[in-house]
Amino acid sequence: MKVAVLGCGSVGSQVVRLLLEQADDLEARVGARIEIAGVAVRRLNAPREIEVPDGLLTTDSAGLVARDDVDLVIETIGGIEPARSLILRAFEHGKSVVTANKALLAEDGPTLFEAADKAERDLYYEAAVAGAIPILRPLRESLAGDRVTRVLGIVNGTTNFILDKMDTAGSGFNEALDEAQELGYAEADPTADVEGFDAAAKIAILASLAFHTRVTAADVHREGITEVTAADVKSAQEMGSVVKLLGIAELVPSPGFETVASATSSTSGGGSDQGGVSVRVHPAMIPRSHPLASVREAFNAVFVESEAAGQLMFYGPGAGGSPTASAVLGDLVTVARNRLAGTRGAGESAYADRRVLPMGET
Ligand code: HSE
Repeated sequence: MKVAVLGCGSVGSQVVRLLLEQADDLEARVGARIEIAGVAVRRLNAPREIEVPDGLLTTDSAGLVARDDVDLVIETIGGIEPARSLILRAFEHGKSVVTANKALLAEDGPTLFEAADKAERDLYYEAAVAGAIPILRPLRESLAGDRVTRVLGIVNGTTNFILDKMDTAGSGFNEALDEAQELGYAEADPTADVEGFDAAAKIAILASLAFHTRVTAADVHREGITEVTAADVKSAQEMGSVVKLLGIAELVPSPGFETVASATSSTSGGGSDQGGVSVRVHPAMIPRSHPLASVREAFNAVFVESEAAGQLMFYGPGAGGSPTASAVLGDLVTVARNRLAGTRGAGESAYADRRVLPMGET
C-alpha cells in the first residue's frame, strides 16, 4: 500500500520517521507493506527534523493525493486551507485519509464526513485531540454502548504548564508564559492557547463524539487564562483547590424539549436519548482530590463520566511531534487494514439532534 504524507513539520517528519523505522512491524500488523509514495512540502530546501529519502519530497501536493498508486493520505499540514481542499481531493480520488487537523475538524467536520461517506472511504483523526492519548476511539467505539454524561478535559498543554507554574512556583501569568515560551510549549503568538481557542476546537470534537451530535468550535463558550492572577491561584490553594483550564461538555437532558429530529421522528435514532449539550472552555477551580488536579506541567487528560462505566480518565502527552505521530500511525494501521479487507470504519454517528445550549441555560 502506498501512503502520501502531506506536510513535514514536527508531526509529519515524525510520521515519516516511524513509517521508515517501523516498516517491518507495520507490515506484520497490517498484512501489507506500507510504502511512502511522497511527502508534500511547501519548500524543498527547508530545514527538517529528518532526512527524507531521495525522490520523495514534492511541492505538488494536489498531484500527489490524486496519484493512481496512492491508497492512503496522511494530512499533517494543519489549518483550514489548503488542508481541506487536499482532503476533499483525496476522497474524490478514492483515497482513505488520516489527519491530525483539529482546527479543520472543529470548524468543518461535517463537510469532511460527507465526503468520506460519499467516497466510501475512511476518515480517522485520533491525533487531532490530545496528541498521543487514545480518546476519540474510546468515545466513538468502546463507549458506544454506554451513555456518556460529561467530559472534562485538560486538552491544552501550554495553559496547563502555565497554570501549574503559577500553582507550584507562585509565578505570575506573564512570568509563567515566558517560561512556557522558552521551553517551546507556547508559540511566539500564544493567543490560540492562552485564549482557549485550541481547547475550544478540541472540546467541540470530543462533545460531537461523546454525544453523537455536531458541535463546532463556534458553538463553544470560551474564556482563556489571561485574566487568571497569582492571587486567584493562591485563593484556590487556600480552599484546597487548583486552577485548571477545562474543556467541559455536558449532556443536559431537557424534559419537554423536543428536538427537530424527535419532532419529525424519521431522522431520529436517539429517541429518549435526545437533549441539549453545554460545551465550554474556562478556568475552573477543582479540588485537589480530583484526578484532574494531578495533571502537571504540559500533560493532558480527559475525564469521562458515563452511566454504566462510571468515571474514566485518559492521561498522557497531548502534543509534540512523536506522541502525535503515534496516534497518526495507529489510525493508519486501522485504515490500511480496512482498505485491505475492502471495508471501512463506522464513520461518524451524528444521529442525535441536540441543541448546544448557550451559557446560563444549563
Ligand atoms: N498548542 C497545543 C497545546 C498543542 O499546548 O496543547 C497542539 O494541540
